[in-house]
Amino acid sequence: MERGCREAWLPVVGQGAMALLRSNADLHTVTIMDFSPTVVIAAKRDGGALSRRQIAEFIAGYAAGRIADYQMAALAMAIYLQGMNSEETAALTEAMLDSGDTLAWPGDAPPIVDKHSTGGVGDKVSLVLAPLLACCGVWVPMISGRGLGPTGGTLDKLESIPGLRVDLTNEEIQTTVAQVGCVIAGASARIAPADRKLYALRDVTATVASIPLITASIMSKKLSEGLSGLVLDVKFGSGSFMKTMEQARALAASLADTGRRMGVATSAQLTNMDQPLGRMIGNRAEVDEAIATLQGEGPDDLVALTTSLGADLLVAVGAAPSLQQAATMLEDHLAAGRGWEKFEQMIAAQGGDLDVRIPLAPATEVLASRSGFVDRIQTEQLGQAVIELGGGRKLITDKIDHRVGLEMLVKIGDPVDRGQPLVRVFADDGRAAHVRPRIEASILVSDNRPARPALIAERTGMT
Ligand code: URA
Repeated sequence: MERGCREAWLPVVGQGAMALLRSNADLHTVTIMDFSPTVVIAAKRDGGALSRRQIAEFIAGYAAGRIADYQMAALAMAIYLQGMNSEETAALTEAMLDSGDTLAWPGDAPPIVDKHSTGGVGDKVSLVLAPLLACCGVWVPMISGRGLGPTGGTLDKLESIPGLRVDLTNEEIQTTVAQVGCVIAGASARIAPADRKLYALRDVTATVASIPLITASIMSKKLSEGLSGLVLDVKFGSGSFMKTMEQARALAASLADTGRRMGVATSAQLTNMDQPLGRMIGNRAEVDEAIATLQGEGPDDLVALTTSLGADLLVAVGAAPSLQQAATMLEDHLAAGRGWEKFEQMIAAQGGDLDVRIPLAPATEVLASRSGFVDRIQTEQLGQAVIELGGGRKLITDKIDHRVGLEMLVKIGDPVDRGQPLVRVFADDGRAAHVRPRIEASILVSDNRPARPALIAERTGMT
């Protein structure tokens, strides 16, 4: 059957038509009458644009097991190599979204909002932002992920709180949000199941780093929350997947465009990850820092980014008249301790016990080998050091040690004296010594004082 289709199609396309196919996005929808996986794969392999229907049928077929892993892998590689235009990317997102359920909210529910970060070292914004937004009268059903490479995962961090459950059903997510105003949980098996299957396949077929595939993967999960507003924190620099601002800008444009095409007010901020966010890296260490922040003792950069991302959302959904007023609302809730109270309610609703103290592993320090200024930080290496300590996974089956981590004692541009502590390492005997050379090599001290990098490099507004 597939073979027949392919034969019928090949003479029509031929070499000349193939060139046309590359430049005319619609041609193939005219020439291909019947859906066939091989036709779709070949069209993308040869640089054509796929129709919404082809994408929908392919993804529905894959989710239902009618299309094999090897065919999906071939299409993923074709997409990786040839790219997708914005209509195709939105169609792929929609198809993955449609493979599962969408959270349902009552007609009189407040605006539903969320933030997505592309992942960074020390990024614990979600833990602070979700309760603060809930204090502002919006609902936040935050579906988060686990650690990916050197960037930590919000779910792994939360699981350092004894008793806390992140594997909530869609019904539990809806009920908790209605009661508390916010929840942070993993994607249930009913949220974008096509993405779950495809992501595992991409992981083992070298097709992760593709903007359309990343866009559809992220946005299908986020849009399944039934959102009216979404803000994207797209990171660039040494501690993020996108090493350059240009790469981050392209990803931000693709994510935001897809969100808007799907009817969600979506904005993006490009934020610097050339140094860790805040001071703490590691699961329990980051929860402790988030708690300190909600209790008014947070580092400036974490507070500034949380406020900036939250303000975008509040304005987008009409919960605040201007960015300035939105930021003031968030800062007032933080200062009055209302964000902390909301966090306590959210943790209790998810079964967590904040009264059980989880001490960090014993601390040792890494000292500066010379005087000067902190010039550069290889942030990814610090994330890698935490994995080496046992705070992240090398294999999917690895168990995480929540007590290990790092505390950054310097930022880029700080003056340092020889022998001054640069980083505090929380680890059991032996492990700290093992990662010490990696940490020492990650922090470059030089004679010239560098400019301090701006945390928020660019913002694109809601539409
Ligand atoms: N995070 C996701 O959810 N999907 C990707 O493809 C990459 C990062």
